[in-house]
Amino acid sequence: MSFTRRQILGGLVGLGVVGLGAGGARYWLGRSLDAKTHDYELIAAPLDLELVAGHTTPAWAYGGQAPGVELRSRQGDWLRVRFINKLDEPTTIHWHGIRVPLEMDGVPYVSQLPVLPGEYFDYRFKTDDAGSFWYHPHLSSAHQLGRGLVGPLIVEEREPTGFRHEKVLSLKTWHVDQEGAFTAFSVPREAAREGTRGRLTTINGKPLPTVELPAGQVVRLRILNLDNTVTYRLNLPGAEARIYSLDGHPVEPRNLGKEYWLGPGMRIELAIKVPAEGTELPLRNGPLRLATLKSVASSEAPGDWPAALPANPVPEPDLEKAEVLRFNFEWAATLASATGQPNNYWQINGKAWDINDKTCADRPIAKLKKDGHYIFELRNMAQYLHPIHLHGMAFKVLDSDRKSIIPYFTDTYLLGKNETARIALVADNPGIWMFHCHVIDHMETGLMAAIEVA
Ligand code: C2O
Ligand code: CU
Ligand code: CU
Repeated sequence: MSFTRRQILGGLVGLGVVGLGAGGARYWLGRSLDAKTHDYELIAAPLDLELVAGHTTPAWAYGGQAPGVELRSRQGDWLRVRFINKLDEPTTIHWHGIRVPLEMDGVPYVSQLPVLPGEYFDYRFKTDDAGSFWYHPHLSSAHQLGRGLVGPLIVEEREPTGFRHEKVLSLKTWHVDQEGAFTAFSVPREAAREGTRGRLTTINGKPLPTVELPAGQVVRLRILNLDNTVTYRLNLPGAEARIYSLDGHPVEPRNLGKEYWLGPGMRIELAIKVPAEGTELPLRNGPLRLATLKSVASSEAPGDWPAALPANPVPEPDLEKAEVLRFNFEWAATLASATGQPNNYWQINGKAWDINDKTCADRPIAKLKKDGHYIFELRNMAQYLHPIHLHGMAFKVLDSDRKSIIPYFTDTYLLGKNETARIALVADNPGIWMFHCHVIDHMETGLMAAIEVA
């Protein structure tokens, strides 16, 4: 699987102009538009942010925002993004959780060549699943994501749902000091443990924001973890909240309960019944406040819990005939820094991914038959959390030896300390798909592999 720069650029010529609007597609919550495409021009460029009052942070932004501008599509429609790289280094965009053809997956040297400074690349794909997704580069991830290249991608349901109100909350904990200067995105000692944490927790780029919600209404909260490292232990004490969707796939609505662990790359959609005007509720990470949800006057008639969201068209794996594959996620201290090689602290089935070796994807860790049914047994041999993510296909979480699971479809499963979990999928998307931990420090120090479907 390799191609030349010429082939890639040649591929762009025939594309023509896609009629881009200034800010992107028009969109109206809960109404169907006739538009069958949602077109954006998306620029990645440096941007000074004021994350710490009175100081600037030299961030990198998508569409003049970090986290990046919110992209919207509708289930069954096409999303077309002309991506322009105005950074001084190569990058790509990966569409996390969206089931795209390989050429649109944004993995350098596997899906496409890196988009060089000053170049553009047209991403075009159909959005078949409705839900909360996100986008980010897939190279130099620790610092590109760390500097702010992360953004939400929302795919609306084809038919209106019972939700009339929603908020998108993108979580990120920035690696900055008290003066807003960036600190190291990756420290070897931390990479070998839970990953390097930032210090400044933000929602939509703001520390401790107050989010206003209409009193008496039911609001859909789309909470996205766009952070490199942190697993947020989400809780909403005092709130009436129900889970409607996990990682872009609907679930049978159920109470949020005490706490939900949202690992890097994961998303959760909650419905919250907003209390009487003037009430303030904390959204927290464990005991720490992330935001204040404040109810404000609403003239609308009170809302009630909407029906469950419609399932996405993900093929159902047949567990009877599925082949079982085992994946061990191991800690492996092979400190190779003396030789100038990257440090490999992690491996899957005894193999570490080398982010500097462009040929790793030529040696897939597993080969799946197209349309074959598979069960993966995921085993965490260490005490640190690994949000395990697969590109190209959604998978169904079946069970775990550590917690009770109501089976559900997802693209990222948070594998806990020494946990073994089983997931299943139908390998319906041909290609070479990255399979990795979404703690960026882990993925860049070995915890990544390629899975071939052919
Ligand atoms: Cu969120 Cu390999 O990606
Ligand atoms: Cu992904
Ligand atoms: Cu990990």
